[in-house]
Amino acid sequence: MANNAFFQNHYISIDQITSTKMINYLFFAADKMKSNVEKGKVYEPLKGKTVAILFYQPSTRTFTSFVAAARRLGAYTVAIHGMAEYSSVAKGESLEDTIRSIYQTTGADAIVIRHPENNSSQVAASVSPIPVINAGSGTLEHPTQALLDLYTIYQQFGRLNKLNVVMVGDLLYGRTIKSLAKLLALTDKSTTITFVSPDELKAPRELVQELAKKVKLFETGKLEGALEQADVVYMTRVQKEWFEKAGKLDEYERLKEKFVLTRHLVSKMKKQAIVMHPLPRVGEILREVDDDPRQRYFPQMRSGLYVRMALLNSILVK
Ligand code: CP
Repeated sequence: MANNAFFQNHYISIDQITSTKMINYLFFAADKMKSNVEKGKVYEPLKGKTVAILFYQPSTRTFTSFVAAARRLGAYTVAIHGMAEYSSVAKGESLEDTIRSIYQTTGADAIVIRHPENNSSQVAASVSPIPVINAGSGTLEHPTQALLDLYTIYQQFGRLNKLNVVMVGDLLYGRTIKSLAKLLALTDKSTTITFVSPDELKAPRELVQELAKKVKLFETGKLEGALEQADVVYMTRVQKEWFEKAGKLDEYERLKEKFVLTRHLVSKMKKQAIVMHPLPRVGEILREVDDDPRQRYFPQMRSGLYVRMALLNSILVK
């Protein structure tokens, strides 16, 4: 297998994935993790290592899968949910001092961080003597989610070329689609990406310009007309917390149900297509879709365990 480009490096931005070799390396490792977990095989290459997991924002999936990933690999974890409320951050401690402190108090070998600021992982990495992994920062980056999303797509289609991916919903505040779109653009120039959103929630122009140079990129305000052609329909929620911060809750109420995936809409998709969502969903996919064979948003979460195991192992073991 190729060199491990992840070893002892921070993983804070999807822009660090610069070649398909890096993706293949990680997916090969994820396949191995998947096989071990499915067979119940104990595999603990991180025995003796410590992973600190610091979450400043709510999370169900990313938090639990990082904890499970580290522990399944034999690492000791110091996992803190509610950093903003229950650590000395509530007394005014800076992010830099928190990172220095966690390193000293835990003897950790890596730090996983989720934080509301866009540059939080960079700030953490700038003072951290150990690798920092971005578990979601601000509105721009969720680089481990992108890897698990791509792994889910790869598992489904057995390829990463000639895909037609439709991304729907809050493309302005949602960070998952930005990281995934960049990753898709790296894998194949024949990829088609269609952004479906209300005008108010269009993806940032810089991202659109960057992607348009690399793949076939379309933007529309209509889901019908796009989903019929899709291999992947990737739904996202309209992110209330950012509207709240901007004092625009009335706009949230107006936009939150602009795109709702129903069984009827899914019936128009190709038989082999899939529906994904990073979750949580808050109304944009009706429960009636859950039983459709194209539903992949539940198994998609399990990809997170395998990919995060692969990433932790790649970062901590040569
Ligand atoms: N997909 C995702 O980031 O979910 P959580 O916010 O629950 O971690």
